[in-house]
Amino acid sequence: MSLRGLARKGIPNLPARTLAGLPAKATPIAPRPASDGSRSAGLFLGAGICYGLLGQSAAGGETHTKETRMSRFKGQVAVITGGAQGIGLGIARRLGSEGAALALWDVNRQALAAAGAALAGHAPGLLAIPCDATRREQGEKAAAQTLEKFGRMDVLVTAAGITGKTNVKTHEVDPDDFARVMDLNVTAMFLAIRAVLPAMLRANYGRIVNIASISGKDGNAGMLAYSTSKAAVIGLTKVIGKEYAETGITCNAIAPAVVRTAMVAALPETQVKYMTDKIPMKRTGEIEEIAAVVAFAASRECSFTTGFTFDASGGRTVY
Ligand SMILES: NC(=O)c1ccc[n+]([C@@H]2O[C@H](COP(=O)([O-])OP(=O)(O)OC[C@H]3O[C@@H](n4cnc5c(N)ncnc54)[C@H](O)[C@@H]3O)[C@@H](O)[C@H]2O)c1
Repeated sequence: MSLRGLARKGIPNLPARTLAGLPAKATPIAPRPASDGSRSAGLFLGAGICYGLLGQSAAGGETHTKETRMSRFKGQVAVITGGAQGIGLGIARRLGSEGAALALWDVNRQALAAAGAALAGHAPGLLAIPCDATRREQGEKAAAQTLEKFGRMDVLVTAAGITGKTNVKTHEVDPDDFARVMDLNVTAMFLAIRAVLPAMLRANYGRIVNIASISGKDGNAGMLAYSTSKAAVIGLTKVIGKEYAETGITCNAIAPAVVRTAMVAALPETQVKYMTDKIPMKRTGEIEEIAAVVAFAASRECSFTTGFTFDASGGRTVY
């Protein structure tokens, strides 16, 4: 279903202040006019970017599904880049089920619409923003739109990522492909963090969780660009952790081993076997297992750990 189609279902919007001053009763707010002057139920079409509030349950969680067992993120807003599918979507589901309002920033509009449908009713608020994370102005606009709707950004999970071409030795690596991987996996991660940090600094609170990879620690042969980019993520995380250590903002990373997502399905089977054979548990990870580790790193409970990279690798721990 399209974003507009989802919006037509008439799911009420969540006022930004409801989240800031919890607990409050959800009062549906009037839909904003779309750029073409027509009224739409929570879907806004801007100049270059379209975004919409796709679904919510009543504030306080009364109408949450049975998935709501904890409320670690009640009153908080979590931004997830690459949140439209795979690991990012799994993280969104987990944080939403624990009370976070969600802002998904993702380049794939179709996947965003499907994610909106899947998550509707599973989080107290949901904003889906088509955004190419490699484009600085789009990330900054997405941050402004998220703040405008929700008034805060407590958690940032940077999950957008690509592998680039794999199963190739270094002398065969296409420099353009290498640059493309670094651009999304590293530069876009930095841009998203840069766009969100001012709001976190104003709030004296923030949890940044970067999705790295065990390949960044161990180095996967045949994956030069990807492994290099994920090693950079681990370095970036250490720097940011130290720079903001006294501000209430933490920055940690997660290093998963293989998880069967669309990204992995697109890899040559020999490359997947190479990676899976290295896992001592002799199995691939589940999205929910990664999301569980991220949920801890994104929570208030994770208050004395920063600049660290958690493993979620079935024992493929190297340091
Ligand atoms: N699946 C694994 O085995 C595995 C292991 C370790 C780390 N990771 C990391 O986890 C993260 C998620 O991977 P996944 O397996 O869920 O992949 P995926 O391909 O299923 O999801 C990636 C998401 O990123 C989005 N994206 C791609 N380019 C973008 C851009 N320019 N701007 C915004 N969004 C963009 C995609 O639309 C997609 O929704 C990645 O950073 C990946 O490197 C995955």
